[in-house]
Amino acid sequence: LPIRAGHYTDELLKTAKTIASPGRGILAVDESNATCGKRLDSIGLGNTETNRQAYRQLLLTTPGLGEYISGAILFEETLYQSTTDGKKMVDCLVEQNIVPGIKVDKGLVPLPGSNNESWCQGLDGLASRTSEYYKQGARFAKWRTVVSIPCGPSALAVKEAAWGLARYAAISQDSGLVPIVEPEILLDGDHGIERTLEVAEKVWSEVIFYLAENNVVFEGILLKPSMVTPGAEHKERASPETIANHTLTMLRRRIPPAVPGIMFLSGGQSEVEATLNLNAMNQSPNPWHVSFSYARALQNSVLKTWKGQPENVEAAQKALLVRAKANSLAQLGKYTG
Ligand code: 13P
Repeated sequence: LPIRAGHYTDELLKTAKTIASPGRGILAVDESNATCGKRLDSIGLGNTETNRQAYRQLLLTTPGLGEYISGAILFEETLYQSTTDGKKMVDCLVEQNIVPGIKVDKGLVPLPGSNNESWCQGLDGLASRTSEYYKQGARFAKWRTVVSIPCGPSALAVKEAAWGLARYAAISQDSGLVPIVEPEILLDGDHGIERTLEVAEKVWSEVIFYLAENNVVFEGILLKPSMVTPGAEHKERASPETIANHTLTMLRRRIPPAVPGIMFLSGGQSEVEATLNLNAMNQSPNPWHVSFSYARALQNSVLKTWKGQPENVEAAQKALLVRAKANSLAQLGKYTG
């Protein structure tokens, strides 16, 4: 059937399919310099460009990574960076059949008129940035905005989040980048899982509505939802089966099957929790490729193993492969622990 034709339509469909390929998911390495600084600080390293380069080089040059990882989201600094041997980080990825991606949002600021909520900046000048990123080798993009359940969420904050994501998605597709659409519903709060389900349904109905209004090609996007879980301070934890059931119910009610891939964020879950929950979601066939786009749940043990010491690089890369392989199996519904 005809699909809205644009200069890059064929390429967008192909890129989205490559990223959403069986047994693979996304490694998110797009921490802003401030957030990367916090990670480095946790192992006693200063937030210098050299340390950030050493850490990203360790991750992106892991031998065999491409078997489990189909895409890597980079921060702008890394997109233009080379390894200490002078090889472009982007080329390290492409060699392993990993699609390079780029975080394009400019972060969160307070949203006046709301209930202490925030909105995401970055639309001004975005079209010129996305076309530069494409020239630099990026083929997909990420825009993360957040919604807070304890702060409401207010109708204003949800509308703003959805509209911003939709404008960003249209601009990215126009530059040949597959947009990852990420309205993160924060884990904070003592609410139960039913409340998270209610908020997630509301958020995704607006996101999908505005994506359609902006003529975004659904076959050429990827979604990055939070899993539907109880709030982090809720009195009871939920099992992977309960989380999978609520999350898939939400997706089936709100997300068109034309979307090729659902790439979950880990949002502060432990490494093993994030793997078990993904595995539970893949116990029966889904209309979409249901996979991962984890930062912390792929990197926590890498950082602890590396500790900034060159002699630990190999062990740290092995730790990354352990998590990547576990999540690859979870994507196939075959993780057994
Ligand atoms: P976490 O998996 O650590 O929540 O990060 C997800 C993310 O948005 C980074 O791209």
